[in-house]
Amino acid sequence: MIVIRGATTIPQDDKEEIRKAVAELLDQIANKNMLLKDEIVSIVFSSTSDIHSYYPAKAARVAGYEGCALFSSQEPDIEGGLSLCIRVMLFVEKNLDPRHVYLRGAKCLRKDIAKKINVAIDGPAGSGKSTVAKALARDYNILYLDTGAMYRACALRALKEGANIEDEREVVDALRDMELDIEYRDGVQHTMLGGEDVSEKIREPQVSMAASTVSKHASVRMRMAEKQREIASKMSCVLDGRDIGTFVLPDADFKFFLTASPEVRAKRRYDELTAKGYTVDFEELKREIVKRDEQDAGRALAPLKQAEDAVLVDTSDMTIGEVVAAVKKQMQERI
Ligand code: DC
Repeated sequence: MIVIRGATTIPQDDKEEIRKAVAELLDQIANKNMLLKDEIVSIVFSSTSDIHSYYPAKAARVAGYEGCALFSSQEPDIEGGLSLCIRVMLFVEKNLDPRHVYLRGAKCLRKDIAKKINVAIDGPAGSGKSTVAKALARDYNILYLDTGAMYRACALRALKEGANIEDEREVVDALRDMELDIEYRDGVQHTMLGGEDVSEKIREPQVSMAASTVSKHASVRMRMAEKQREIASKMSCVLDGRDIGTFVLPDADFKFFLTASPEVRAKRRYDELTAKGYTVDFEELKREIVKRDEQDAGRALAPLKQAEDAVLVDTSDMTIGEVVAAVKKQMQERI
């Protein structure tokens, strides 16, 4: 008797998705190991606790694996654990070298057997980058690096120092002994400036435009890009920004460029800011977003631009759940 292992993922908790994923997984295991169905003694599934809509064992029966004992169980919900993942063990009456099968990113989810991956998500303000990046980081159990926060911290420091932020020399002077650290607590990024947690302060509306302005300066960009590359070289992570796929990590394993109409992006920012208690004028916010896009896309070094090999996703008419599912589908097809 031998045991063959396998795992797969589904983009969302949905009966049809479970049926498709289980059938595909079992058929691939059978093909790769040249199994006949009557050689399978039993199949044991375990799925993560976010899967409720269908028993994987039932999906196996529907897919024609009915002559063996089938069993499904659910894994406990462990913080930082996998999501939307189905694992399987096939007990087989045969003597062979088992070929285990991991599909749709399931291997990348397992830290112990995964290779390091970098995901680049670029796009203008309000395109949904950070929400998608956070969801990917959570689902694939990898780090999320918000690179915009780094430029925002530079802007905050330059403003505090009273620098004329249009002037590269003044900005460089203001940032000379800046201690910028990115820390993670419970998986959440904290941007630390000289030991102070500025994660909230850097979100203030006036910092947004200033961040775009200081990020024009080549010396600021080179310094930040180096820090970002250093972090990305050490571990699997998803980075969001404007130039990740084109400049910071041109060899990233996955590249996405998210976009949406200025109207939709301004509305998202408006909702975000008003929920935080800021009073903002929608039209003014929209004008500022368009101006920031122009400034980010118009700078000489590493402008906001879709990398040639990035997948474009227009999120204007999509819910965030749909965007995450679309991005994960693209990734899972290629892992
Ligand atoms: O993503 P964000 O809105 O927090 O970014 C703030 C500004 O920082 C953005 O307008 C331009 C700059 N930025 C950049 O130039 N390159 C990045 N990779 C990320 C942000």
